[in-house]
Amino acid sequence: MNMHELNLDMTAFWMPFTANRQFKSAPRILVKAEGMYYTSHDGRRVLDGTAGLWCVNAGHCRTEIVEAIRQQAGELDFAPTFQMGHPKAFEAAAKIAEITPEGLDRVFFTNSGSESVDTALKIALAYHRARGEGQRTRFIGRERGYHGVGFGGISVGGISPNRKAYSGALLPAVDHLPHTLNIAEAAFTRGQPSWGAHLADELERLVTLHDASTIAAVIVEPLAGSTGVLVPPQGYLQKLRQICDKHGILLIFDEVITGLGRLGAPFAAQYFGVTPDLMTMAKGVNNAAVPMGAVAVKNGIHDAIVDAGNAGAIEFFHGYTYSGHPLAAAAACAALDLYKNDGLFERAAKLAPHFEKAIHSLRELPNVIDIRNLGLVGGIELKPRDGKPGARAHEIFVKCFEKGALVRYTGDILAFSPPLIVNETQIDELFGIVAEAIREVA
Ligand SMILES: Cc1ncc(COP(=O)(O)O)c(C=O)c1O
Repeated sequence: MNMHELNLDMTAFWMPFTANRQFKSAPRILVKAEGMYYTSHDGRRVLDGTAGLWCVNAGHCRTEIVEAIRQQAGELDFAPTFQMGHPKAFEAAAKIAEITPEGLDRVFFTNSGSESVDTALKIALAYHRARGEGQRTRFIGRERGYHGVGFGGISVGGISPNRKAYSGALLPAVDHLPHTLNIAEAAFTRGQPSWGAHLADELERLVTLHDASTIAAVIVEPLAGSTGVLVPPQGYLQKLRQICDKHGILLIFDEVITGLGRLGAPFAAQYFGVTPDLMTMAKGVNNAAVPMGAVAVKNGIHDAIVDAGNAGAIEFFHGYTYSGHPLAAAAACAALDLYKNDGLFERAAKLAPHFEKAIHSLRELPNVIDIRNLGLVGGIELKPRDGKPGARAHEIFVKCFEKGALVRYTGDILAFSPPLIVNETQIDELFGIVAEAIREVA
């Protein structure tokens, strides 16, 4: 199929996080997907080096998930979850609770990572209020953090272009920890850098500044993905946990990327051995087959809110029409079964050393200034061109696509997160293509 046969009028679709004019003048269109590969509009096979958008962890168009959605659509297309229920939503929540860290067994459904973040922030506020500490309204995020695009998420997030146009409308009581990347100290570290745990002590400084009694929660991505794969320093998350505990501050892990096996454990919380109070997820929760997100909540937090109100009254004034949508929930049940039956999280853990070796083999290529990795996620940071940040990575991204690999870039950082079904040959193929593209782009 070529563009002519596609006959697409691209005018109406205002594309998200896209250079619209540039894209529409030279479009990249995907028309099919199966397993590890997309098919482009011109009939080329494209190796998926990014699991779509960090989300298709079990690979594309898995029969079990497709069939579950098909069957659900014909049986119960939609049912409300406000004052009503349907079996699949309960089943999906129970399956999620099976793999969350112990004690985070209550699950609130949303439709995206952004909604999960805003939901988690609201639960934190509602919890403190239910316990008579309603003055705890401040959130602490982190520089370079990405927590989606809701007003809550951009407020605690730390990516300047996502915030600046809306600066007058951000949440009023937010502060930020410093990010943890230091290329001068830790370039080309394999796995977690030994430098940087002390950056968690900045939380003590913020507590002194604002007073613990005003702070509701700290929210971080355990491994920051969208900002360009920032791996947490050894001991850093443990320190954040200790400081939060000391001051009665809730710790929220945004696991929208790290959840569902990306690091070789169900969640980063288990990988790092640090249990948060709330955990957001989306993307891989149902292999991205139907939009879905969720927040896993410590039982005590749930109970404090749910038990605080009068019986018969709604306890938490929050929810989405599509919270626990039957199709999304059916897809989640099938995807979670697939992850378990195929041992995909364990597979990710087993492949991680090969992935690490392959990505670090690109170290000597031109303009490569850092390579970072953990589990099946990796980033290659390039030297930006003078006065044209992001241009070099964009060209490499386009070249990779032309050569048959989908990668992702942010600024001048290339990011990789293949589906967990990837094999060693495909990992080598992916980084072979990337190496060629880096060599060809000056
Ligand atoms: C850590 C994190 N939080 C939240 C989001 C937002 O998710 P969504 O795009 O589904 O709203 C993302 C998306 O990449 C993410 O990486």
